Formats: sequence, structure tokens, C-alpha cells
Amino acid sequence: MERILSFVDANKEKYLGELKEFLAIPSVSSQSAHNADTRRCAEWVAAQMRTVGMNNVQIFETPGHPIVYSEWLGAPGAPTVLFYGHYDVQPVDPVNLWTSPPFESTIRDGDLYARGSADDKGQIYIHFKAIEAYTKNGAPLPVNIKMLIEGEEEVGSANLEDFVKGHKDLLKADLVLISDSSMFAKGVPSVCYGLRGLAYMEVEVEGPNTDLHSGSFGGSVHNPVQALSEMIASLHDKNGRVTVKGFYNDVRSLTKAERSAFRKLPWNDKSYAKKLGVRQLYGEKGFTTLERLWARPTLECNGIWGGYTGEGAKTVLPSKAFAKISMRLVPDQTSAQAAKLFEKHFLKMAPKTVSVKVRALHGGEAAITPIDSPGVKAAVAALQKGFGKKPLYQREGGSIPIVVQFKNILGLDTVLLGFGLPDENAHAPDEHINLDNFFGGIRTSVHFYNELPAFWKAGGAGKKKK
Ligand code: BES
Ligand code: MN
Ligand code: MN
Repeated sequence: MERILSFVDANKEKYLGELKEFLAIPSVSSQSAHNADTRRCAEWVAAQMRTVGMNNVQIFETPGHPIVYSEWLGAPGAPTVLFYGHYDVQPVDPVNLWTSPPFESTIRDGDLYARGSADDKGQIYIHFKAIEAYTKNGAPLPVNIKMLIEGEEEVGSANLEDFVKGHKDLLKADLVLISDSSMFAKGVPSVCYGLRGLAYMEVEVEGPNTDLHSGSFGGSVHNPVQALSEMIASLHDKNGRVTVKGFYNDVRSLTKAERSAFRKLPWNDKSYAKKLGVRQLYGEKGFTTLERLWARPTLECNGIWGGYTGEGAKTVLPSKAFAKISMRLVPDQTSAQAAKLFEKHFLKMAPKTVSVKVRALHGGEAAITPIDSPGVKAAVAALQKGFGKKPLYQREGGSIPIVVQFKNILGLDTVLLGFGLPDENAHAPDEHINLDNFFGGIRTSVHFYNELPAFWKAGGAGKKKK
């Protein structure tokens, strides 16, 4: 172990140089102008896998962006970890709000800034280096590892489910490991055991069949931007509850034990509000902020547009208005049901003055992973060693839809071992990763692979299978 960990220490500069290369590839999955870059990124991932000693490296084509797979299976009798991550990134807009260019890694104050640095390239790279630290030192890995890195996570993983269904044998493993979430706070390592689900909708409101002069026609028809605003405003009541009929029907209530565990976490509403620059927090009445973030469903308008938004004034009464609306879901809601309820509600409340269309874009299910599993125990031990502190248990408000599918299709539980921080601007300008966490993440991952076999054996999980 010592040799392996000092190898990590000795190579820090090299890691940063190589990570820079990875982050320089604009693998924006949602923008077709970047399709060639996204493919180049898949090839970079495949080459990196070969470099760190992974075998059977393959790039699988999909109707969308490629999936990269590799394996190292030299530890017979030891558990097999299926490591999942994504090499695609979110768009960089608005690019003028970045302090340094999004695809030129820049280090400021101990943080490395670039799109994908935290979500998720930086965190995948952590595992490449943890694996390499073993293979480059003539030390066999203590576990078997399969890596599955996709290029469509940020656009809903449309082709991954079919791939997993079609490659059950290839992906056969004992547990899933994902580093695509955050620690509770700087210096406060944590294991995540819950993610929210998601139903993402787009709505269109049409009024007159063409844009109109707002003077000649204003007063005669219902402005679709106004109608849409009225509809969106009515989606929450004065207690911050979502008004979509039936929305809360399937929501699993928080247990007393979990509520009290949440309350014991080091949290301060005032400093949270201050950090975000809001004068006051907002949300569903009757729940704490962490409860609202992790265990209550929400509805958000992600964007709204229509009419004239360019420079200066243009008097126009627009023909159409649009909005993107997402719902974050919790157990036991389903994305299909949430989408159905939303559509029904939205169409029903549409005023007679306009016509409304609703489309479901994509969805994913909420996940709770067992915290008494050998994988989580190994993660706790590894975090303790990697960061010198006992980790907390937490949930997350974000979504990783494949987690539930790994359970349903492959029967595998997932360990969520995140090394990001909640304020690292994932999906926003100035995304960054803290370098202490980055290097701590490599150490922790080295420890995780080393700790897992003993916890696995102690859990008796190995025996059950044979
Ligand atoms: N890494 C995030 C998910 C995440 C965020 C987990 C914060 C834990 C904390 C992932 O890349 C992501 O952004 N997922 C999308 C869902 C997807 C269906 C587009 C999300 O949560 O919006
Ligand atoms: Mn991610
Ligand atoms: Mn993301």
C-alpha cells in the first residue's frame, strides 16, 4: 500500500497535465456540433484505459454517442466492481460568465476550473489513476474491475439501458461503483445513499397564428407569454407545494429516524442562503432544507422563452411561448406517472384563449442504496483512510437514472462515492474541482479497492453466489 500511495504522491504534476488533456476535449453531448469531439473523447477514454492497464478495451457504437468498456479480471475469487461514469459534459453557455475558458484547465486557489472537472471527467480520472497506481507498481489489483463509461448521461442516457440489457454477461459483477456526486462539504467526507429521480417536460403555448403588432392587437388576444406565465405560476401554492393533481400520492414519507439523522448533519440555512446570494430560502413548508433537497419532490421551471429578447425594444405580441419544466422525484414516484400527471394537469388548466402542447423529454427514477452493504462499508473505511475523517451518510438532490436500472437489470447495488463539492458549479459557469479532494479521491479509491475484498467476505456476499 505504501508504495502505491507514494506513487500517487510522486505523480501529482503528471496527473494534472493529463487531466488537462481530457478536459480540453469539448464532449458536449447535447450539441451535435460537438459530435466529433465527443467521439474523440471516447477514444481518449479508451486510450487512457489501455495506458492504466485495463484489458479488453472496447468502444461500442450506439445510435447516439459511444460507450467505452474495459476490464481487469486478474483477481480470481475477489469481488468484481462495475465502475460507471460519463465522459460527456454539459454545454458551457453562458460562456461569457466563465472567468477562464471552459476547455482550458486553469488552477486558482487550489481549485482546477474547467467544464467536466467535477462532473464527471475529473472523477472518472481519479479512478484511472487509482487503478494505474496498482498496475504500474507490479501490484495486482485486489479486486476485478469492469469500467463502463458512457457519453450520454447529461442527455438522459437514452441508449444505456438497452446496452446494459444486451450485455448482461459482459457486465456481470458484484456491485456498482460511481463517483459522480459530491461530498457533504470541504473536509466533511460522505457516502451518498439516495438520489432523486427526474421527469423533464417541455411545454408550448400558442396564441395567434403569427406574431402581431402589440399596439394594433394588444387588448384583443391573450398573450401566450402571459398565459404561460400564469400557468407556471399556478404550479406552486402559497406553501411552496406543487399543485399538480396527484403529485404527492406515491411519495414515500421520511421516517422519523431519517429526519433525525438529517437534523444531526452540520447545516446552517443562513450561511447556505448567503453563499447562494438569496435573501431568503424558499421551499415546501413543513420540511427542513435538507429534507426538501434530498427527500421531497419538487418542480422547477428550467427556462422560459417567447417573443422578443434581443437588444433594445421591439413591440410585438408573440404567437408562441415555451418553457422547460423538470420534476425531481423521490421513492416511490415514477417518472412516467409524474409526466402523465403533469400533462393532464397542464392541459386541463389551459385557458380557452390559447392552445397548449406538452412533451416529455426524458426521465429517470429515484434511488436509495443500502447503507449496510459491504460496498458501503468499504467506502466508509476508504474515506476514513483517504481523508482522515469518518464520513457522514447523505442523500443528494441530483439524479443518476442508471442506478435503478443496474439494480433492475443486473441485480446490483450501487456505492456512490463522490469527490465533488456542492459548490463546484456543476452545469454552471466556472465549474471546478478542489485539488485536495481530487488527490484525496485518488487515495480513497486506492483504499476502496484494497478494502473491498475483506468487507465482501465478512458480508458473506461472496459465498451466496457460489
Ligand atoms: N452528476 C450528476 C448527478 C448528481 C448531481 C448527483 C448532484 C449527485 C449530486 C449528473 O451528471 C447529472 O447532472 N444528472 C442529471 C440527470 C440527467 C437525466 C440529465 C441531473 O441530475 O440533472
Ligand atoms: Mn455527472
Ligand atoms: Mn451532470
